Amino acid sequence: MQYILLLVIILLGFISCRESPTSVKIEEQVPQLGLITKNAMVVSAREEASKIGSQIMEQGGNAFDAMVATEMALAVCFPYAGNLGGGGFMVYRTQFGEIGALDYREKAPLKATKTMYLDENGNYLPEKSKVGGLAVGIPGTVAGIFKAHEKFGTLPIETILEPVIQLAKNGFKLTKAQAIRFNYYAPIFKKVNGAESIYTKTVSEGEIFKNEALASTLQAISDKGQMAFYKGAIAEKLAAFLKEKGSIITVKDLARYEAEWREPVTFNYKDLKVISMSPPSSGGICLAQILKSIEPFDLKQFGHNSAKYIQVLTEAERRAYADRSYFLGDPDFVDIPVDSLISDEYLKNRMDDFSFDQATMSTAISHGNIPGYESMETTHYSIVDQFGNAIAVTTTLNAAFGSKLYASELGFFLNNEMDDFSAKPGEPNMFGLIGGTANEIAPAKRMLSSMTPTLVEKDGDFWMSVGTPGGSTIITSVLQTILNVYEFDMTMQDAVDAPRFHHQWLPDVVQFEREGIDEKVLQQLKNKGYAIDRTNAIVLGKVDAILMLPDSTMEGGADRRGDDTAIGF
Ligand code: GLY
Repeated sequence: MQYILLLVIILLGFISCRESPTSVKIEEQVPQLGLITKNAMVVSAREEASKIGSQIMEQGGNAFDAMVATEMALAVCFPYAGNLGGGGFMVYRTQFGEIGALDYREKAPLKATKTMYLDENGNYLPEKSKVGGLAVGIPGTVAGIFKAHEKFGTLPIETILEPVIQLAKNGFKLTKAQAIRFNYYAPIFKKVNGAESIYTKTVSEGEIFKNEALASTLQAISDKGQMAFYKGAIAEKLAAFLKEKGSIITVKDLARYEAEWREPVTFNYKDLKVISMSPPSSGGICLAQILKSIEPFDLKQFGHNSAKYIQVLTEAERRAYADRSYFLGDPDFVDIPVDSLISDEYLKNRMDDFSFDQATMSTAISHGNIPGYESMETTHYSIVDQFGNAIAVTTTLNAAFGSKLYASELGFFLNNEMDDFSAKPGEPNMFGLIGGTANEIAPAKRMLSSMTPTLVEKDGDFWMSVGTPGGSTIITSVLQTILNVYEFDMTMQDAVDAPRFHHQWLPDVVQFEREGIDEKVLQQLKNKGYAIDRTNAIVLGKVDAILMLPDSTMEGGADRRGDDTAIGF
């Protein structure tokens, strides 16, 4: 029915896929359809990055070649979150149905200690894990793209990186949002770095922004491979720069860094098979816990974003984030009972004390027994190629422009991912997340993430690639996007555009986007004891996704909240 309606709309010529209004009751509007292509598609935070990724596939490359190109292009034209100085995760499903996950998350330096962000009296010094040299984790992105390319790539790395190098050299046009952002952060960059750089100048919308230093770094990586970054001249320059800025990262840390293949988290939700990121991301486990906890409820009958729907999701989220805080960390350092945490048996009882009459208080919820507030850093892209390979990749510097440290000779920003560790039990990180000992700092350990790059199969075939930025809110945005399509028959575009909400156990508050939720629903929730916050989350996530349609074409969903763009052929 949904697709017949869409076809009619196309025939009537009503479609303008990028003009979704900003304030909204999506379900009362004419469905908006995203870009439709037959063969391949990239949906990312920037038009230039989607275009370069798509062109690589048109040249005969596959989704993994396009991943390398898109990831590096985002580092050039979306330095807010795209990066060489950060890390990320990829989930893949090949044309043959093989699945896997790649972990190129940053690591703590060898000299890191459990108490490195505490003063002599044991008080937490929150700035130290967020800004400047001590906040930086060992970057993993360059190792990540080479690991993916080595296993699955088909085009030479020089061919893939060539258009990216040209983008850095010749520049890209700044969008309005970018110009505002660059100008906002310029004085902060100057203060943190103590020097002028290309990022401390005032810029305007439409201006061409070039980064020659980054073009040279990319050229060196193209010529000499990942070792140029981790062992060669770049490593030496980077380590010297970091040392000068108070970091404890050394050339030894860089030389030892390796990306890791991981088993993705897989589970069923009704007739869907969900494939998502495993630890050191909490994304897959939390998504599994929430979806399996809500599976017995008739969400469709409750209605999209109705009070009952919001209650059920909120209560499942509360319980999953309580478990996140207690159980999850780097699997190379802590034993995580993954199978138990997502088992039907365990989750069956987790919602037992939930009642539609009254909110559960987070103080009443702890982790189960096993026999924040943040804006939109991080970035996600989804790719499907003409051979049938599908990937979902989420990558980050953590905060906007990470630690704000800019290595001007190399042309990139450094992450502040160390803040994703639990610096002190009970102290919230920048996302308001409370961590436990499973996520305490240790040398060479990876910090826990919420990134949730996710693929979904239906009837054994690829169905959806989805993910988003948004720190702790990533998991709940991915959740709602899948439900929007599966339970509420939305198009991919409407599903990513629909208003969202979020709960994460602590603080005990349901965050809503400012627009698009019925006031009556909010009042009903307040009456049942839910604390509502509509001030902190201007937007929740910027979801980019691809949906396979029944006629084997695919629809892109590029979030209206950003400059996100779908391109394909
Ligand atoms: N830096 C945000 C996350 O990994 O969850």
